Amino acid sequence: MSGTDSQSLLRPPASNIIFDSEKDRGLDRADTDSISSVEDEKHDPDEYVKLQTTEQELSTSTDQQPKVTKEHLACQRICLGFGCIFLCAFILVASCLIGHDISLDKLVNITELNLETGFKVEAGKQRLREYEFDVTHRWAAPSGVWKKMMLVNGQSPGPLIEVNTGDIVRVKVNNYLSGGESTTIHWHGIHQRNTTWMDGVAGISQCGIPPGKSFTYEFEIIDQRGTFWYHAHSKVQYTDGLYGPIIVHDPDEKLPSDTDIAAERIVFMGGSFHAYGEDLLESYLQPSSKWAPSMPGVEPLPDVILINGLAPFTNCSLTSSTWPSSKPPICDPSPRRYMTPMTNGTTRLRLINHSSFTSLYFTIDSHPHLTIIEIDGVEVAPITVPGVYLNIGQRYSILVSPTHHPAGSFAMRATIPKSCFLPYVPYTSSILESVNHQGTALLSYSPDHLNSSSSSSSSVLPITSQNPNLNIPQNCTDLPFSLPVPLRAIPAYPLDETHPPSKNTHEINFQFQQAGPVNRIFINRTSYSPLPNTTQLWLSLSQTFDDNNNNNNNNPDPDPGGYNNYGFPLNQQVLLLPEADKTVQVAINSRDVMEHPFHLHGHTFQIVAWGPGEFTAGSNPNTTWNLENPMRRDTLTIPGLSHVVIRFLADNPGIWALHCHVAWHMEAGMLITFLERPNDLKRLVHDMDPSIRELSRSFCSGEKPPKTKSQKT
Ligand code: C2O
Ligand code: CU
Repeated sequence: MSGTDSQSLLRPPASNIIFDSEKDRGLDRADTDSISSVEDEKHDPDEYVKLQTTEQELSTSTDQQPKVTKEHLACQRICLGFGCIFLCAFILVASCLIGHDISLDKLVNITELNLETGFKVEAGKQRLREYEFDVTHRWAAPSGVWKKMMLVNGQSPGPLIEVNTGDIVRVKVNNYLSGGESTTIHWHGIHQRNTTWMDGVAGISQCGIPPGKSFTYEFEIIDQRGTFWYHAHSKVQYTDGLYGPIIVHDPDEKLPSDTDIAAERIVFMGGSFHAYGEDLLESYLQPSSKWAPSMPGVEPLPDVILINGLAPFTNCSLTSSTWPSSKPPICDPSPRRYMTPMTNGTTRLRLINHSSFTSLYFTIDSHPHLTIIEIDGVEVAPITVPGVYLNIGQRYSILVSPTHHPAGSFAMRATIPKSCFLPYVPYTSSILESVNHQGTALLSYSPDHLNSSSSSSSSVLPITSQNPNLNIPQNCTDLPFSLPVPLRAIPAYPLDETHPPSKNTHEINFQFQQAGPVNRIFINRTSYSPLPNTTQLWLSLSQTFDDNNNNNNNNPDPDPGGYNNYGFPLNQQVLLLPEADKTVQVAINSRDVMEHPFHLHGHTFQIVAWGPGEFTAGSNPNTTWNLENPMRRDTLTIPGLSHVVIRFLADNPGIWALHCHVAWHMEAGMLITFLERPNDLKRLVHDMDPSIRELSRSFCSGEKPPKTKSQKT
C-alpha cells in the first residue's frame, strides 16, 4: 500500500466542505425530463469559486481534494477545444462529488426499499423505463465508520429499477469516479437475450467506462420476473456500495393460490468493510496480506453486515483486522439500523445477498415459519423454513404474515454461518465478533408504522425481541437441490448421449494453487485475469472457431469439449458452446474444502445432478440425478469437495461468464466464460447499432479500430 493511498483512506469526513453541488438526483422515472442536467451544474461559475475556497480550507487535511482541484485548474488553463471543456466539466463534477459527504437519510432510500413507489403492475404494454446513474466516490458512514464508497446517485443500495416483464430498461451510466477508475454495471440474473454487449462485465462484454465518459445500457426483460440486482462488475467495486435492486413484476407471476400480498419490501444484506475495497484487493493478492501475513490468499473478513445499507456499530475502540493503516478510521458511534414497516396483511420480503465473501443465514425473531415462494427469479412451490441460507448473489422471496404477532418490533438477523468461513481464515475480526457475526434490522408491527411507513427508515430502538435458540445451520449448502419445485415445470433438457459427447458438454474443476509466492485460483489449467484493453467479445469476432480442430494456436486438444484458449491470451479460458439450441451440460467439480457460490451469466440453469467427489467422463457413481422438474436458478452453492451438474439450452448467442461470486476469488482467477454460438454472435454484433458498438470499442484504449468486417455497409 502506498503512502498516498493510506492517506486518502484517512481523509476525515469533510463536514467543513461548504459547497453543495449535487442536487438530489433521485430520479422520477415517470418523467425523465425532470432529471436535472449535469451539464448545467458543471458550468456554474459559482461552483468554481467555491471549489477554490474549499481547496484552501482543506489543503492541510487531505491529499485528495487538492489533487483533483489542481487537475481541474490545469485543465482549465490548457483546454481550449470544445471536447476538453466536457472533460474539464466531468473532472470538476467528480472533484465536487468526492468531497461531498452523504448522510444516512440520503444514502438509504426507504421509499424504494419499502417498495412504496406507487408502481403500476400491468401486462401487455411494453414501456421504456429510463434511468440515469451518476457513479461517484463519496464518503459515508453506513455503520458509523466513515468510508470511501462508490455510490449511484448518492445512494447505496443504489436506485431501484422497477419494471414489468416485457419492458425495456435503459440506464445511462455517467462515470464520475475519481482516481482514473473505470467501471461497468452488470444486471445480475437478467438474461440479456441477444444483447450480450449490455451484460456489463469488464474485459468480457465491454471495456470499463472510462472516467468522464458515459455509456447507456439498454435491454429488454424477456419472460423473466422476480428479484434481481445490479452491481459493478469491474474489480471489487461492488464491495464499496455499487449495487442496487431490480424488481421485475408480472401480473401472471405464479404465487401460492391462497396468498394475498398486501405489501412488498426489499431486504438487501451483505458484508461491508471499513477499508476501501481496492486497498483490500491489493493486499489480498500479495504473498502476504495485512490480516494474514504468513499465508497468501486469505480473504478479508467483513467488519459489519449491512441490512438495507445500515449497520449499528457503537464500539469505536474496536479495530478492524483488515484496516490498512495504523491510524484508525473516523468513527461516529451509530446505533442506527433499518426498520422495515409491516402491514396488516401478508408481506413479501425480497431477500438479496450482496456480500463480497460470505453467505448469510436470514432469520426473524419469533417468526419460525418463513415461506419461500421465489428463488432467483423462479417461482417455486411454497417451502416453509425457519431461516433462509443465502449465498452471494442469490435471491429469495419469502412470505411473512403478521397474524400471530402483537404490535411491536422483531429483529431480522443476517448471520454468517461461522463454520463455513472461520476455520479457513487464520485471524479473527473483533468487530464482527462483537456483533456475533450478525447484521440486524427491525421488522415493525407498531401501529405508527402500519399506515405511514415512510416516516422513518432507521431506528435507534434497541432490539427487544430475543432469539435465544438461534440455530444457524452449519452445513454450508443451499436447500437440498431436490427440494424446490419450479411452478413453471420444465423437465431436464435432454442430453444427446452420443460418442464423442456433444460439443456443448463440459467438465470443469477448480482449486486453489500456489503460483510462486502468491495464491491463485485455477479453473482447469487457467487462472483468469481480465483483459485490460480489450474484451473477449471483440477478440472473438476475428477468430474462426472450427468445430473439429478447436484451436487457432497449434495446440490441438484431444478433448473437443475441453480446455483450450483458441486465440485468446493464456489467462483467458473460453469454452465453446457451438450447437445451437441444444442442451448444454456443465459439471463443476470442487477440489476445495470451502463452499463457493457460482453464478452463470446469460442463462437460468437447471441443477440436474450433484454429489461428493468429482464428476468425470460423464459420471460419478455417487451422483444423485433429478431430471423430472429440476430446480432452476442463476447462482448456486457448490459445497466443498463435491460436484454439481447444470444444464441449459444454447439459445442465447453471446459471451457469458461463469464464476465464483466471492469478489476476492473472482479477482484471483475463479472465472471462465462460455462462447455460445460464435457465428451467430458475429451476426448479432454485425447487426447491432453501430454507434453503440463504436462507443463501446472506443473504451478499449489498446484496441485497434475495428476492421470493417463487423461494420454495417
Ligand atoms: Cu453478480 Cu458476474 O455477477
Ligand atoms: Cu469462491
